[in-house]
Amino acid sequence: MTVATSSLSPANENQSKIIFAPSVLACDFTHLADEIAAIEAAGADWLHLDVMDGHFVPNLTFGPLLVQALRKCTKLPLDAHLMISEPERWIDAFADAGCDHITIHAEAAAHLHRTLSAIRERGVQAGISINPATPPDCIAYITDLIDQVLVMSVDPGFGGQRFIESVIPKIVYIRELEQKYNCHLHIAVDGGIDSSNIGKLAAAGADVFVAGSAIFGSKDYRAAIESMRSVALAALSVV
Ligand code: DX5
Ligand code: ZN
Repeated sequence: MTVATSSLSPANENQSKIIFAPSVLACDFTHLADEIAAIEAAGADWLHLDVMDGHFVPNLTFGPLLVQALRKCTKLPLDAHLMISEPERWIDAFADAGCDHITIHAEAAAHLHRTLSAIRERGVQAGISINPATPPDCIAYITDLIDQVLVMSVDPGFGGQRFIESVIPKIVYIRELEQKYNCHLHIAVDGGIDSSNIGKLAAAGADVFVAGSAIFGSKDYRAAIESMRSVALAALSVV
């Protein structure tokens, strides 16, 4: 782990269009506060928090109590990815814990309209996540209620899985929906992101990149973020 000495501000407007959201799932939990400080200093834009319930996904992670503790460690926007059944039961708890964004799964919430509205009513940005097998059309009638679509590029539940290439056309399609419904959306991709695929994802229209292993698994967090950022910007032809 290398701790950089100063935070990296995007050098120009184009750079700020590429958002890196490292997933804490891949960090060293025995030194959590140090890891968060290191990733903030390394140029992370958001902090991605993978919440799993052992029901919607076959793994358990953490809940609002840990989010509340992380809120005290960083000024970065906290980007909660709720991989939980019945997320409507937990919106207030995660909002109270200090989340800036709350993303729920289309497959996990029976009443998406109501739950997304509840997130917005708390003054929190709302996101919808779709699994690799879920068609993107499910966002068509809720574009006015979401700030972000999180396209899963692995089946959710674990870090370190292999990237699923077939999700890339969904990103292109969601940008088309954005035009059609005249809204503004972040399109995030999550799972197996590294330098080998980030260019294609940026070119397809993704602007938020969630990465666990490729950042926390590297020796130099700043170098890992900067090298992926360069590949993404090159794909957009802005470098
Ligand atoms: C998977 C999580 C991801 C994951 C990403 O269910 O949503 O955020 O931690 O980790 P990597 O980059 O290792 O695939
Ligand atoms: Zn995630």
